[in-house]
Amino acid sequence: MWKRIFKDSPPLEAKEALGNPLYQGIDRERLPVHTALIMDGNGRWAEGRGLLRTAGHSAGVDALKQILKVAIDLELPALTVYAFSTENWKRPSAEVDFLMRLFVDYLTKEIDEMDEDNIKLRFLGRMDELSPALQDLARTAVNRMADNTGLRFNVAMNYGGQDEILRATREIARRVQAGETPLDAVDENLFESCLYTDGLPPVDLVIRTSGDMRLSNFLLWQAAYAEFWFTDKNWPDFTPALFIEALKDFGKRGRRFGGLTNK
Ligand code: FPP
Repeated sequence: MWKRIFKDSPPLEAKEALGNPLYQGIDRERLPVHTALIMDGNGRWAEGRGLLRTAGHSAGVDALKQILKVAIDLELPALTVYAFSTENWKRPSAEVDFLMRLFVDYLTKEIDEMDEDNIKLRFLGRMDELSPALQDLARTAVNRMADNTGLRFNVAMNYGGQDEILRATREIARRVQAGETPLDAVDENLFESCLYTDGLPPVDLVIRTSGDMRLSNFLLWQAAYAEFWFTDKNWPDFTPALFIEALKDFGKRGRRFGGLTNK
């Protein structure tokens, strides 16, 4: 069995919320330390209902809020969500604009509750290419929650896994070239410290909704040994019950990390 290895994790609490029948049968010692969510299928969800694709994104926010609540109740140490990829700029500008407004709106409305819930927020991605308003809000939210000790909630925004790896490679090359780092010192730890996820544990579980079974440039380095869980449901239909099903399935997986014995 693998351990909750995240160094800042407080001991598991006997929370009142865990009396909820939804949580029955969960072995909290076998939950993922770091869960990643590819929230796919918002557009299809809306189109299937004769709605604009943007309505799917709004419904997606509601689904995310419910999942966050479960993550907090279960004291999952880290949750990373794919909100906007470096490739999503290819979408029609009206949809991109809508998504950007949705992120502003979300941060504005949710910051108090996230802070009360002891969430520690972080953004992964090229934030400097986003609107100044969104950058300001993101910075304010991150600073406000900097001392929180609960769920590490990471929002990948304008994020691409290959882009992140290239960025780290360039930074390391710069250090080597400047004579700051000897070539021999370039190892996994140094590389990880140059990723957006510096200080976060590797991803244990990747959940993807809406039937597609691919990583789509998400956390390529961090998910090297992740377990995958897929559902045909579109993201707005991803309920707490489905999330718990995924977590329970994860608890049954044997993980060998390239060795011979299950961890
Ligand atoms: C994928 O569905 C979803 C996105 C590109 C946006 C994800 C954003 C949210 C769920 C909003 C909530 C997030 C935050 C952080 C507030 P899609 O549009 O690719 O759906 P499709 O595959 O059916 O077209």
